[in-house]
Amino acid sequence: MLQSAGTTASSQPHTDIAFQRCINPACAAVYEARSVHTSCERCGDLVDIDYEWDRGAVPKSLDEFEAMWSRRYEPMRFSGVWRFHELLPFCRPDEIVTVGEGQTLLQQSDAVGKFVGLDAGRLHLQYEGMNPSGSFKDNGMCAAFTHACMMEAKRAACASTGNTSASLALYCSATQKMKAVIFIGSGKISYGKLSQALDYGALTVQIAGDFDDAMIRVKQISEQLGIYLVNSVNPFRLEGQKTIMFRILEALRWEVPDWIVVPGGNLGNSSAFGKAFAELKQLGLIDRMPRLAVINAAGADTLYELYERRGVRWNGGHVDMEPIRSYNDHMDREGIKADTIASAIEINRPVNLKKCLRALDTMDGVVRQVSDQEILDAKAQVGAGGFGCEPASAASVAGTRLLRREGVIAPSDRVVCVLTGHELKDPTATVAYHTTDQEVFNDVLASRGVQKASHANRAIAVPNELDDIVKAIQLYS
Ligand code: F0G
Repeated sequence: MLQSAGTTASSQPHTDIAFQRCINPACAAVYEARSVHTSCERCGDLVDIDYEWDRGAVPKSLDEFEAMWSRRYEPMRFSGVWRFHELLPFCRPDEIVTVGEGQTLLQQSDAVGKFVGLDAGRLHLQYEGMNPSGSFKDNGMCAAFTHACMMEAKRAACASTGNTSASLALYCSATQKMKAVIFIGSGKISYGKLSQALDYGALTVQIAGDFDDAMIRVKQISEQLGIYLVNSVNPFRLEGQKTIMFRILEALRWEVPDWIVVPGGNLGNSSAFGKAFAELKQLGLIDRMPRLAVINAAGADTLYELYERRGVRWNGGHVDMEPIRSYNDHMDREGIKADTIASAIEINRPVNLKKCLRALDTMDGVVRQVSDQEILDAKAQVGAGGFGCEPASAASVAGTRLLRREGVIAPSDRVVCVLTGHELKDPTATVAYHTTDQEVFNDVLASRGVQKASHANRAIAVPNELDDIVKAIQLYS
């Protein structure tokens, strides 16, 4: 196992600004930052990174981070993650690994805003697909990868629906610091993502099963072989993912929006966002919280079921595990498997469930589920009114539309939808939506209950004749 001093649970003080702590208040075991824990050794619960902020160099106000931009010739300050290092100070500056992640964009999109029912100027889309590997994962991966290097790991592993694996594979290939071992469910990953893992040279293990099966296996294997695990049970991942919120605030000139809307899969993002805002509040850097909406795909809606239907809550850390166990048993008995076109969030056993419940508590959150039809319609709108995204990301836009219709979000609310992955991650879904080929539509979409493509932009077929081409253009434009 990869371990170092301070690996044993203790209630004793640690020696660094940063330390790890079990999220279960009845346990609260503490570990050194320079040790590896994807669960608490004492009670098995999730582990957080915590800080003694007064020993660090936290700015007095958020706009002090603007000065970091002027030093963007330094890789650390070029990075959209590490220029907020003072808010995730678990490593020394000279230990930081970066590939230039976090150069992402907050777009005000009135076209998509109109589609969801918001007043002009109120909807913002945060494009995390602009990261080097094409998804938000790079935000967290650079942090976990940095920690893996601090621990002198030679191999790193993850289970993935495709984006985590693409990100890990990229950090390995671009830095040459370690070997990636990735576990994916057979036939469960889009070609864009699979091609990245293969091209970046990752050892790619296809398991006869889905993401939930792969997740169980990768935990066992990494434990057995002493491979560093970078799934979001790794608390350092979430430290990097906090910075998505810092960049949103920065783009809004440090004004807190009313809502953050995010797709929910393994629930790392939502957990990280809650932690980011809780810490900013604790540090006096913001004076109010935005609300959080986590959007499940209807075919992978465990969080929705537990939070909205069965009333499971954070409850100060004393989460009632009974409804969770009973729902898991129900899924096992009935052989229920996650199933959605949004393959990135095709997950029924989210590993960060408890941390997400904490985030929902901190940010007065809600959870909704949306159908594949709603996801693809919303995705087509993002493409037509913005820079495009992959299906899972569009769940945030579909969810916002639903919450507007329900009146939970007001037309004048300022809403930020996090678009987690790049359009090109899953061209199969996009082409099937816009296709004129009924067979392709049926095969990819109708099989999942998608009935129609109301926002399709269909290609027109013309003979290779000048007159015909001119006529067609005049007819359609
Ligand atoms: N959107 C995209 C594009 C994703 O790839 C993922 C997760 C999510 C949303 C859900 O985020 O887990 O933080 O709730 N993808 C993981 C993967 C599971 O393996 O790439 P979450």
